[in-house]
Amino acid sequence: MDNDRIISANLMMEDNAIEYSLRPRYLSEYIGQKQAKENLKIYIEAAKMRKEALDHVLLYGPPGLGKTTLSNIIANELGVNIRTTSGPAIERPGDLAAILTNLQEGDVLFIDEIHRLHRTVEEVLYPAMEDYALDIIIGKGPSARSVRLDLPAFTLIGATTRAGLLSAPLRDRFGVVSRLEFYTVDELTYIVSRTADILQVGIVGEAAREIGMRSRGTPRIANRLLKRVRDFAQVKGDGIITLDIAKTALKLIQIDDLGLDEIDHKMLRAIIQSFQGGPVGLETIAATIGEESQTIEDVYEPYLLQIGFLQRTPRGRMVTPQAYQHLGLPLPEQR
Ligand SMILES: Nc1ncnc2c1ncn2[C@@H]1O[C@H](COP(=O)(O)OP(=O)(O)O)[C@@H](O)[C@H]1O
Ligand SMILES: [Mg+2]
Repeated sequence: MDNDRIISANLMMEDNAIEYSLRPRYLSEYIGQKQAKENLKIYIEAAKMRKEALDHVLLYGPPGLGKTTLSNIIANELGVNIRTTSGPAIERPGDLAAILTNLQEGDVLFIDEIHRLHRTVEEVLYPAMEDYALDIIIGKGPSARSVRLDLPAFTLIGATTRAGLLSAPLRDRFGVVSRLEFYTVDELTYIVSRTADILQVGIVGEAAREIGMRSRGTPRIANRLLKRVRDFAQVKGDGIITLDIAKTALKLIQIDDLGLDEIDHKMLRAIIQSFQGGPVGLETIAATIGEESQTIEDVYEPYLLQIGFLQRTPRGRMVTPQAYQHLGLPLPEQR
């Protein structure tokens, strides 16, 4: 299970309480994502001036980049309530109808993992998004008729790891579509320092940077690594996180210089050793290393693509020369 992995960007139980306190609450506290932030700032301002609901927003990108955080910030900046749910949690159309009719004018409805909405539920969403209306069927058989109910004007914020999995009619109904990007080392360094402040742990700048460099462009991982390193500093040092302590702790938990862990190594090595570096299909890779293909695609692969260690070709995934070099393996003669 990938939940045991320290670099797993998925939310783990232990993180819940602290995660909440670490979440920025205003756009001004939200580091990075310049493009998304600048656009949203304008749309939020305009919606407030017109006293209208903000257009529906779709946020997509790998886990841990700040989709949930940003959704809460949007509601906060608009000064409205946010109702949070997720695609798989809404089982029947009636469940969604109940949520929608309980919203107040201008409220935000946040649907996480929106690509996992049931088809029948999704259909309720179309008129709701387009006309703030709910079509309900009254009666059964030949006497059944459809009645249209007005809903308060609301803003749907959908979050997904992969926008490609959304149906076209749903995707088309979002007025604002924002892709969240991996964070730079500078941004992550800043996030690590900010979190250390909140947790009241001392950390030297170089150590914050070291953790930032190994966080795979992902704030959630940065915060998680910081917490592990903090534990180490408390037990083995005097509580202050020095560069030395950070490096030793990260080595102990098997995170390499680029933030790759043993599963990344296993996957890259498998492609190199069993498939001459690829191209090889995702399903085959998954079977070879015993991980789920969906997890590979959502969690592991995006960063390896980002740093140019992996390439997606029509015939499958290929390992690049940079990855061979990082692993200290000789390049095959013919490529
Ligand atoms: N832009 C940011 N600035 C500072 N911290 C962030 C930022 N984005 C995310 N975080 C931190 O990372 C954690 C994970 O973010 P979250 O919104 O839950 O990611 P996602 O919903 O995309 O999986 C948050 O609890 C927050 O502490
Ligand atoms: Mg989330």
